[in-house]
Amino acid sequence: MKRALAKWLYQQEDVTPYTRLAAVYDRVMNHVDYDKWADFIVFLFQKFGSDVCRVVDGGCGTGSLLHALVCKKMRVAGFDRSVEMVQLAKQKTQCPIWVDDLRTFCCKVKWDAFLCLYDTIQYLTTEEIQTLLHHIGEVLTPGGLFIFDVVTESHVLRYWANYTEKVEWNSLEMLRRSWYVKNRRSQHTEFEIIDKDHNKVYRERHIQYIYPLETFIKMSGESGLRFVGQFEDFTLNPGNEKSDRIHFVFRRAAI
Ligand SMILES: C[S@@+](CC[C@H](N)C(=O)[O-])C[C@H]1O[C@@H](n2cnc3c(N)ncnc32)[C@H](O)[C@@H]1O
Repeated sequence: MKRALAKWLYQQEDVTPYTRLAAVYDRVMNHVDYDKWADFIVFLFQKFGSDVCRVVDGGCGTGSLLHALVCKKMRVAGFDRSVEMVQLAKQKTQCPIWVDDLRTFCCKVKWDAFLCLYDTIQYLTTEEIQTLLHHIGEVLTPGGLFIFDVVTESHVLRYWANYTEKVEWNSLEMLRRSWYVKNRRSQHTEFEIIDKDHNKVYRERHIQYIYPLETFIKMSGESGLRFVGQFEDFTLNPGNEKSDRIHFVFRRAAI
């Protein structure tokens, strides 16, 4: 259906990120090999952790990585801010999954590893990341790992600075438009999810921040976490500003 016509015929609604995207998220992400990703994460546990048993995935989305880690016999749990993403994650795997926010989460248990993957940390401001690092320092066991990934500015400029995509699945249609505001280092993505069965267009506006890589090391200063490495893609090669995706590994000092 022509976009202009859909806008005219259908009722429009602005919604919070991931409320409507949740329904198509796994289809949008079907290029991602979560099994391979889980292999890499387990490899990082073995390389830099000590006997990692209890793992939590903050911003777990629809639980694909949790499911892959469960298949590798890891004891995992996850949380996400989006109720809709959590509902889908619970259908995928039996591990504990709940709704919570990385900025304010409350956790009584200690974890051997805390994950935050697929650009999730880039939804947070510097102040929020600083608070998160501090909090993770408190919820990790001594020697525990914090692993997260980010995309670099060169990646964003290569692929997402001016990107549009349209995908159709039966009665659902998704339009994605991405742009980058260089002086704010902010990546903007607008999703329109068109539900033809219910004559509705839902619009989500996502903003992510593309921090210089050194920011994360500087921010970890007071957190009790020590920088272990920044690795390019799914390797142990040192990542830099020209890389696409970087995995950061931080470790809480062992007592
Ligand atoms: C790009 S998705 C990644 C999901 C999952 N980690 C994956 O690899 O598929 C980003 C996820 O982060 C979640 N998220 C964003 N901000 C959050 C916050 N402050 N607290 C918890 N989850 C958050 C979103 O709801 C979404 O599920």
